Amino acid sequence: MPALNDTKRYALITGASAGIGKEFALQLAQQGWSLILTARRQDTLETLRSELSKAHQVDVHVIAGDLGDPNEPQRIYDYCQQQQLNVAMLINNAGFGVPGDFDASDWNTHSNMLQVMLTAVVHLSHLFYADMKAAEYGRIIQVASLAGFAPPTAGHTLYAATKSFLIKFSQSLHMEAEESGVHVTALCPGFTYTEFHDVNGTRDMVSKLPKGMWMSAEEVVRQGLEAVEKNKEVKINGRKNNVIAFLSQAIPDRWMRFLMRKKIQQFRKR
Ligand SMILES: NC(=O)c1ccc[n+]([C@@H]2O[C@H](COP(=O)([O-])OP(=O)(O)OC[C@H]3O[C@@H](n4cnc5c(N)ncnc54)[C@H](OP(=O)(O)O)[C@@H]3O)[C@@H](O)[C@H]2O)c1
Repeated sequence: MPALNDTKRYALITGASAGIGKEFALQLAQQGWSLILTARRQDTLETLRSELSKAHQVDVHVIAGDLGDPNEPQRIYDYCQQQQLNVAMLINNAGFGVPGDFDASDWNTHSNMLQVMLTAVVHLSHLFYADMKAAEYGRIIQVASLAGFAPPTAGHTLYAATKSFLIKFSQSLHMEAEESGVHVTALCPGFTYTEFHDVNGTRDMVSKLPKGMWMSAEEVVRQGLEAVEKNKEVKINGRKNNVIAFLSQAIPDRWMRFLMRKKIQQFRKR
């Protein structure tokens, strides 16, 4: 097989059609990275491709597909191999929330969420990490959430659990990757202005949150890219979110749950 195209380093971004993923695409194109954009909405990705390639003279590939399909990570990897794309950055960002109580959604919904937000993330990491290690260069960002640190909630039953998993997985991989040239960072935003809460139907609820609790996708992504360059294990965005994460770890779980229970339930649909 011919050697990978070393002249260009590609960043592969999942969930690049909106919100945080789209912002990653924008900022990385501004930095001169070539891109591989994935999500389900092909038209949106194609529009982004033509905008970014024109504005920043970078090479942009689109792979439209559903990460709920267990074959999708391998299909993405095979495409990159066939096209000889040197994937030097992987941003596992695609995600969504399932509001409501656990038994209010059918098994397919939960199973799909676990596939997109856990298995696909681990699978893509497994596929690309080995190549990055061999190349002695790589950047992996797992977009987790402050929810992975915050106390558990009733409603959105699996969301915090998936994000806690991602943080721990990312921390282990970060430790394994030491001295390898591969940087692995778990990015943990709090409430961020994107399509996320429109998609899961909780916009009215979360719009009652104080403005100071919200961050822009632009700031979240800027901090995420800086953090992975510095090889930070975990990056929690924003001072308030850092305080919440600190207290969640410092205060015994039972007390924290007691203190936060009423507050959190105002913003978690049951
Ligand atoms: N917004 C927040 O407040 C917040 C806070 C903390 C963490 N996060 C995390 O940030 C990440 C990005 O979310 P966001 O806020 O940017 O939400 P968003 O604006 O709704 O974007 C979600 C992205 O994921 C893609 N996606 C969803 N389901 C998919 C599937 N089955 N297959 C492939 N792609 C899929 C969507 O593309 P298509 O619809 O085109 O497939 C879209 O590009 C998520 O992991 C989320 O958990 C968000």
